[in-house]
Amino acid sequence: AELAKAFIDEQVGELRKQIGDKKVLLALSGGVDSSVVAALLIKAVGQQLVCVHVNHGLLRKGEPEQVIKVFRDEMKANLIYVDATERFLGKLAGVSDPETKRKIIGGEFIEVFAEEAKKLEGIEFLAQGTIYPDILESEQGIKAHHNVGGLPPELNFELVEPVKLLYKDEVRVVGKELGLPDNMVYRQPFPGPGLGVRCPGAITRDRLEAVRESDAILREEFAKNGLEGKVWQYFTVVPDFKSTGIRDGKRTFDWPVIIRAVNTKDAITATVENVPYELMQHITDRIVHEVKGVNRVLYDFTPKPTATIEYE
Ligand code: XMP
Repeated sequence: AELAKAFIDEQVGELRKQIGDKKVLLALSGGVDSSVVAALLIKAVGQQLVCVHVNHGLLRKGEPEQVIKVFRDEMKANLIYVDATERFLGKLAGVSDPETKRKIIGGEFIEVFAEEAKKLEGIEFLAQGTIYPDILESEQGIKAHHNVGGLPPELNFELVEPVKLLYKDEVRVVGKELGLPDNMVYRQPFPGPGLGVRCPGAITRDRLEAVRESDAILREEFAKNGLEGKVWQYFTVVPDFKSTGIRDGKRTFDWPVIIRAVNTKDAITATVENVPYELMQHITDRIVHEVKGVNRVLYDFTPKPTATIEYE
């Protein structure tokens, strides 16, 4: 905590020196890295920071609301909220190939963000939540991590990357010191394409809602039962097939929900969490009674390899 304080003081000084009286733009997803960068910049330059939160319609239940609550209401940040749900779901309609879905989501995200950036006057800097492992992976050619890379050339901002020398654990400590809520600082990893990759095949609104609602129940129950922060990543998937069931003496034909809960260090291999049976039965009961269009719950016992963590 002492080191975090010293880091924050030093960065606030550096950021003020670099940015001066100019404006800085940040794509704020609500993930750990961008949230910590936002909190640092609010401390350093306050209203000179403009945050843009793009809701692509594939966020988890309560996420956009939390970003607005924490950053606009509590930290008094200058936050632009863009609900682009219709636009994303429109572009994704009928698209079933996983990589095509990813490309559409990534490309559309940059387009929406660039459109917002162009509406703003006098922005000279672009802040990014690049962390040290991102730089290492880019250098080693494993993954190209350009957070909001691919912006049109007329938007040539100078980059501001205040956490680029930190590891994830250190970013969390800094976030905690900056007063961000625990469920933001210790959040499980969430893929950029969001719930889109947990709604395999062509995304439909009703199936996407089933993913969002079942995920919210799973997270709530894991938190209640001490598994939040213990299990590395946990989520639900609603595959694109239906099966026969029975409810109130009548035949149903609905989707299953698949639960996935895994542990890993580096996401290259993963093992499956041994969730207590009683808890799984309780979660099953809640999902089949509370989530529309679902009549069955399955647990995925497969480690990585042979499966990957996500389904697409
Ligand atoms: P897989 O499914 O490859 O996932 O075992 C490993 C980790 O990476 C996350 N993941 C993604 N993150 N964009 C992201 O930002 C993506 O397209 C993506 N695909 C997978 C996944 O959630 C897991 O933590």
